[in-house]
Amino acid sequence: MDVYGIIGNPVEHSLSPPLHQAAFDHLGIDARFVTFEADPDRIEEAFRGAEALGIDGLTVTLPFKHDAYEFVDPEESVERVGAVNTIDFTDDGPIGYNTDMTGTLRAFEHHDVELDGTNAVVVGAGGAARALAFGFEEAGADVAVTNRTESKAHDLAEDVPGATGHGLDELPDLMAEADVVANATSVGLESDESVAPADAWHGDCVAFDAVYKPLETRFLGDAAAAGAQTIDGAWMLLFQGVDAFETWTGEDAPVDVMNEALRSHL
Ligand code: ATR
Repeated sequence: MDVYGIIGNPVEHSLSPPLHQAAFDHLGIDARFVTFEADPDRIEEAFRGAEALGIDGLTVTLPFKHDAYEFVDPEESVERVGAVNTIDFTDDGPIGYNTDMTGTLRAFEHHDVELDGTNAVVVGAGGAARALAFGFEEAGADVAVTNRTESKAHDLAEDVPGATGHGLDELPDLMAEADVVANATSVGLESDESVAPADAWHGDCVAFDAVYKPLETRFLGDAAAAGAQTIDGAWMLLFQGVDAFETWTGEDAPVDVMNEALRSHL
């Protein structure tokens, strides 16, 4: 039997086990996907131990996405974003991927949203914002990063080719010109708030929210009310998993099965 898992702390409420187990079961692959709540002070032992035990693949979540970099051969997406969310233990050693970035692009493709040549606004400057900003840039968008702490927006924008950094006060002006507006802040997580003013939305754009609790955030609700297309945070979660699954197994992931499993647990 193959063994895959998610390493993080905490991981108790992770949606990765049902997401991946549904795919393994559907394809008749003899594998189990389990949770590993690792001790943050013993993370090197944890990664080396996983390799020594013959674990086949890991999803890496907070707070280990940066630490993991040291223990893998980084694939291109990892070198760019500076964080690892997927490890494939191969005969040549552990290879690190960032499917938060590549998966988000697949989520947009799945919704027939062409990013090339668009103006994309990323709100936030943390880990999620980094994956989105690099992903959008890679897909050919002009990226503007806006954040409450403006200096962090400038820091991120400096790393992303062609991107600009802004304070949150500039968000309404940026939205007026935007084709895509993505929330990568924690605003809206288990609350009815939005980081974007309701009256700044227009119908000619796509709204994406990295928050998935609740699925229907105020951010997306305001966007939809203005006639904008919306993509909820479960799609990012789904496709980072789809990309990881395909990297590990070399099989086409059963996307509909995984989507159903994920949404039934949300
Ligand atoms: P992650 O790594 O999951 O993206 P993070 O690094 O904690 O999370 O980043 C959270 C983001 O939400 C940051 O951009 C943060 O802004 P600051 O850099 O100014 O802290 C943003 N954020 C959190 N609460 C916010 C609020 N009330 N208003 C605006 N932005 C907020």
